[in-house]
Amino acid sequence: MNASAPGKIILFGEHAVVYGRPALAVPVTQVHADVEILDSARAGIWINAPDINLRAEVSSLPADHPIAAVVHEFFPRPGASSGPGTEAGGAGIEIKISSSIPVASGLGSGAAVSVALVRALSARVNRPLTDERVNAMVYEVEKLHHGTPSGIDNTVITYARPVYFVKGQPIQTFKTGSPFTIVIGDTGVPAPTRESVGDVRTLWESDKVKWEKVFDKVGEIAKRAKTRIETGEWELLGELMNANHRILQRMTVSSPELDKLVRAADEAGALGAKMSGGGRGGNMIALVKPEAANSVAEALKEAGAKHTIITTVDS
Ligand code: MEV
Repeated sequence: MNASAPGKIILFGEHAVVYGRPALAVPVTQVHADVEILDSARAGIWINAPDINLRAEVSSLPADHPIAAVVHEFFPRPGASSGPGTEAGGAGIEIKISSSIPVASGLGSGAAVSVALVRALSARVNRPLTDERVNAMVYEVEKLHHGTPSGIDNTVITYARPVYFVKGQPIQTFKTGSPFTIVIGDTGVPAPTRESVGDVRTLWESDKVKWEKVFDKVGEIAKRAKTRIETGEWELLGELMNANHRILQRMTVSSPELDKLVRAADEAGALGAKMSGGGRGGNMIALVKPEAANSVAEALKEAGAKHTIITTVDS
């Protein structure tokens, strides 16, 4: 039983999306989480996830561990009911998890592992799930990772399509009038989303009137961006990215490393750039003409990016 799920980037609207404003996100298929379930002679359910240094029998993990929480949806905790290891012969399973998505980088590694794990386990126990159900299950797990997630990461990764996301509303996808190119630059600084989301909440609580207006501006940017993408006027997205980045700086979720990469992209001829995801570290994105993609990626590396990815957004 194998399953795979892509990474993601947020094009516009992170953080404000937690407060009900729209945001745009797209899958990034160059990076992915992969789950393989194998029979094992050893009793129990063994998790083997070398990328996060985890090798453990699932019942030894806390119940709210994100991976254990998913496994127990399909195999209730020992004692609760039978599962591998309590079945005839005591044979168990090994769940191999690997991921090329850097952890805590804004590319959705946690949600991608959960989506791939849910799909592999549902195949293993022969319990087919709709995308809607997968999405709902992974959203519950995202709450363990992030506290108060909007649900955008699990949605874009479950459906693996561009999404125009509004919290609590049915999924809306968007079409690209013509494809456009994004360079992703990784600061290499891990930054848990839970912290930046918590800090934005503290700001919002200190002056709700002010921050609601700021979030409104981000929502307007996301709406305008959707129109420009759909009409194929992608070159005009650059200024919207720059405007969104300036607002994210005001929200205190950018960082010197992110700002440096954003500046480097600008100086290398990108049409616009911004941080992407939770911020404080992780990844930034730059909009480029296809012929400038390699030189912008090089400039990002010279400015300190640990990895770069060139991706085309195309519905
Ligand atoms: C994280 O990818 C996006 C945030 O807006 C958090 C969320 O929407 O849950 C920062």
